[in-house]
Amino acid sequence: MVPKISTLGGYIFEYQKSVTNPTGFWSNIAESFYWRKKWDDILEWDFSKGHVQWFKGAKLNITENIFERHLFFRGNQAAIIWEPNNPNEQHKTLTYNELFVEVNRFAAVLTRLGIKKGDRVAIYLPMVPELVVAMLACARIGAVHSVIFAGFSAQSLGERIQDAGAKLLITSDGGFRGSKTIPIKQIADEAMSNCHCVSTAIVLKRTGEDIPMTSGRDIWWHELVNEQETNYHATEMDAEDPLFILYTSGSTGKPKGLVHSTGGYMVYTAYTFKNVFQYGDGDIYFCSADIGWITGHSYLVYGPLLSGATSLMFEGIPTWPDAGRFWDIIDKHQVNQFYTAPTAIRSLMALGLEWLDNKKLHSLKVLGTVGEPINEAAWHWYHDHIGKNRCPIVDTWWQTETGGIMISPMAGITPTKPSYATMPLMGIQPMIVDQEGKPLLGNSVEGNLCISYPWPGMARTIWGDHDRFVKTYFSTYPNMYFTGDGVKRDEDGYYRILGRVDDVINVSGHRLGTAEIENAINEHPLVDESAVVGFPHPIKGQGIYAFVVCTHFSTGGVEGIRNSIMMAVSNMIGPFAKPDKIQIVTGLPKTRSGKIMRRILLKIAEGKTSDFGDTTTLLDPDIVQEIVKGAHAL
Ligand code: WTA
Repeated sequence: MVPKISTLGGYIFEYQKSVTNPTGFWSNIAESFYWRKKWDDILEWDFSKGHVQWFKGAKLNITENIFERHLFFRGNQAAIIWEPNNPNEQHKTLTYNELFVEVNRFAAVLTRLGIKKGDRVAIYLPMVPELVVAMLACARIGAVHSVIFAGFSAQSLGERIQDAGAKLLITSDGGFRGSKTIPIKQIADEAMSNCHCVSTAIVLKRTGEDIPMTSGRDIWWHELVNEQETNYHATEMDAEDPLFILYTSGSTGKPKGLVHSTGGYMVYTAYTFKNVFQYGDGDIYFCSADIGWITGHSYLVYGPLLSGATSLMFEGIPTWPDAGRFWDIIDKHQVNQFYTAPTAIRSLMALGLEWLDNKKLHSLKVLGTVGEPINEAAWHWYHDHIGKNRCPIVDTWWQTETGGIMISPMAGITPTKPSYATMPLMGIQPMIVDQEGKPLLGNSVEGNLCISYPWPGMARTIWGDHDRFVKTYFSTYPNMYFTGDGVKRDEDGYYRILGRVDDVINVSGHRLGTAEIENAINEHPLVDESAVVGFPHPIKGQGIYAFVVCTHFSTGGVEGIRNSIMMAVSNMIGPFAKPDKIQIVTGLPKTRSGKIMRRILLKIAEGKTSDFGDTTTLLDPDIVQEIVKGAHAL
């Protein structure tokens, strides 16, 4: 059993142990898992080369740690409770025994289709239990899954499939999302027509829509599954073999395929899940994140299932059929731990307290947030109205790259402060540095957040581009992992995340690179160039503000071009990346060397009309006032 800390004194003691003797600490935690062969070496690392290996030489299969390790005691316990989009549709429960059978059956299907250890499998599915089955079946046979969020466009899906070199795509006819039906297969078809590595597509029937099936390529999921195949011998993996690739946005154009390991990721997600949420036997845990993002991977699928937990997954959205949907689910399934994003809290808060009428929420013990800073008002609303002043809030800071939660309270143990992620978890050694990389020691300091020592859950590389991995994360400050976030350590030693210090913005908890959006906008034939910045948005946390240089207009005029830019972004990335504001300008504030002065645009996007600092190096200083005027009129 993975050890669980239960007191503040216990945390302080364990934390000290974990940083003075990290390898001893983690090998002790790793002892709780099932390894076919134990490690020869606990840790080998060299940050200057982006080289980190944990539990070297160990052999395992992560699904044996989910199933074989738990079946004897928990076979009949719910592993997954699935709540459909439409509350009138019957929910589904899959026990550990049932999920095991489904995973084995699908592992056999993948093998029959020629998928082998190390092959990449792309998964583009809505939030249905088969998504978990598909991921775990890949893990069972040693294939590397790459789940792509079902809100991504055909172009983004195609790029990711191509980058990963996936042979197989697992998708569905369509998906339900609130009152909408999403044409998943149509998007997948378009993506596959542009990438030639995929030879087979498995299609799950979800919406029952009439869809074209390409003969020789597309096969229905239900036609492949053989009821007799209930046992599949798991493939032996090395602790450092890749478990999955997950794409995320960075400050340069192309998304990065972060690669996570098998052994280290397993140990880290299970340990942090149990400790942060203080999950106890029999609890029902509900993470509202989509599995297409890291939160869904680590804290809906792997962390909970490795801990023998009951994990609730929800297909729909918080505001359909009405804004009480989350609270109905919590009451219906008697949820004990609820984990969501600040943006969801803010949007529900804005819709008023009437949606909480007749909701009991008695079962809740722990509330969590993730993905973006939570402002104090939202923290208090969550604490008072959802947690009824009795549930601790765990504000969990982490990243796709970190694999698991890094800085966070442990529920009911670490005293909380609104909007603070509080303290580092065991084994995590944060270091705050100034612009020059000088460590800022002691309390009451603010700077860039780095981590100075490896932890088992960290990503090992960027798929196909290790140099980029080194350059992005380990070259800004020597011998440290650079997070890209700004942080403050207050007088009590508590950490508060201040947001990104690079060109990444966080829109409704979705991470987007400004360069990625600019590239999409610049594809438009009438656009000369563009600059995208984030601006404070009351619900989304950050909104997208695009300054677009256009000198020629078509018949639709400015409105026409705005609409077609929206369409271009939606087609190239996905509807969630559409700018909130598009300002057409005649030029951008550039230095004489041609560099866009983003700090000026950031201030304008925030609504400032003066105090832009030194503008003397600008090629055309007048452009600033022109943009300010236009912004005001927007
Ligand atoms: C931000 C999501 C403040 C941060 C798990 C980070 C947060 C980025 C928090 C990673 C938090 C995540 N408080 N900011 N509790 N959690 N972030 O990769 O800027 O989608 O770098 O991983 O989200 O986003 P990603």
